[in-house]
Amino acid sequence: MKKKHFLPLMLLIGTVIFINACYYDKAELLYPTNAGATCDTSTVISYSSRVAPILRAQCYSCHSATGGSGNINMSTYANDKVIALNGKLYGSISHAAGYIAMPQGGGLMSSCDQAVIKKWITNGALNN
Ligand code: HEC
Repeated sequence: MKKKHFLPLMLLIGTVIFINACYYDKAELLYPTNAGATCDTSTVISYSSRVAPILRAQCYSCHSATGGSGNINMSTYANDKVIALNGKLYGSISHAAGYIAMPQGGGLMSSCDQAVIKKWITNGALNN
């Protein structure tokens, strides 16, 4: 190899290694729906501003309002409320025994997102 091509090549390889070394596969970073220093579940959790964005980012692609995967229909308040109140929503996202772990193939969602959804459900899964 000619000497003048060596340095650019090494820089390229170095950059590729560096970028790969920085790749950090964490659900919180990939889907930052409730990211932030603190996880605020102290107030009443709003379906429209806090719960729906999490579900939209991580669930609706497979569970549309009709004909969703596994016959689980989501993406409207009325539909989301059904699985919230029958225990399947929290059971699946917390990977509880007896439920199929969700999001499928996506790993456990962030603990903050889980806490937000749990609080919304215990508050009665309101349409707020
Ligand atoms: C990549 C597609 C995909 C994504 C994303 C996904 N699901 Fe699923 N989900 C499925 C499939 C497929 C099934 C049916 C699995 C089976 O029957 O074995 C299923 C089943 C379910 C069930 C039924 C579980 C049970 O125990 O009966 C629930 C509830 C559910 N999903 C909720 C969710 C929620 C909540 C999210 C978002 C956090 C989500 N899913 C994201 C594909 C997906």
